[in-house]
Amino acid sequence: AQKTTELYRGKAKTVYHTTDADKLILHFRNDTSAFDGERIEQLARKGMVNNKFNFFIMQKLEQAGIPTQVEALLSDDEVLVKKLDMIPVECVVRNFAAGSLVKRLGVEEGLALTPPTFELFLKNDALHDPMINDSHVVSFGWATAEQLAEMKRLTLRVNDVLSKLFDQAGLMLVDFKLEFGLFHGQIVLGDEFSPDGCRLWDKATRKKLDKDRFRQGLGGVVEAYEEVAQRLGVPID
Ligand code: C5P
Repeated sequence: AQKTTELYRGKAKTVYHTTDADKLILHFRNDTSAFDGERIEQLARKGMVNNKFNFFIMQKLEQAGIPTQVEALLSDDEVLVKKLDMIPVECVVRNFAAGSLVKRLGVEEGLALTPPTFELFLKNDALHDPMINDSHVVSFGWATAEQLAEMKRLTLRVNDVLSKLFDQAGLMLVDFKLEFGLFHGQIVLGDEFSPDGCRLWDKATRKKLDKDRFRQGLGGVVEAYEEVAQRLGVPID
C-alpha cells in the first residue's frame, strides 16, 4: 500500500490514506503536546522512538491474542495499520495513583490500586476529555454495551500482559490509555502505545520515564523513552 492523501493530523501523529482502502499509514512526528495541545514542542528522535516502541508493544500484544491495528513497520517513523472506525472514548487503567486521579480524589501519588481502576474519558480536546461512565457511552451511541464490555476486557488483558513485561524490565506500569476502533465489526486496539500515553516509573527509584517528564518540565524526555526502549529490548537505530 502506497501513501496517498492526508486523512487527519493529530497532535503527535499524521494519518494518511493509502492505495488500499482498508489500510492507513501513521506518521509519528516529533511534536510533543501537553495540556490539550496548549503546549507543543519538537523533541528530536521522538517520532522514531515512539514508532519503534509502539510496533514492539503491539507485536507483544498480538502474540498474547489481543487484536491490534498494526500491520507492518514501514520506516523509522511510519507504520502500516488497518483502517479502523475509531470509537471516541479513551480507556484508562491505573495500577498506582498518579495524574488526574491524584487531583480528583486527593490521594497520594504512588498509592497501589488493587484491583486496578478502569476509567473512561471522552476524546474531545475542546471539552478537555471529560470523564464519562458506561451509561454515557451507550446512551450517546459511542459504542454498544457489548462493544464496551469487550474494550474493558481487552484493556485489562493489556494491563496483565504489559505489567509483567515492564516489571521484567525493572519498570512499574503506573497507568495507560488505550483507544479502540471497529474493523469489519470487530473491536481492535488502535492509536498507539508509547511513553506518550502511559506512566512508567523505575521500580527501584520511582524515577519518571514517561511524558510526565515533559508535562512537569523535568527534561530528558526522549532520553527517558530511549532508556525504557533499551531496557525492554526494543531495536532502535
Ligand atoms: O491525566 P491522567 O492521569 O488521567 O492520565 C492517565 C493516563 O492516560 C496517563 O498515562 C496519560 O499519559 C494517559 N492519557 C493519554 N491521553 C490523554 C489523557 C491521558 O495518553 N488524552
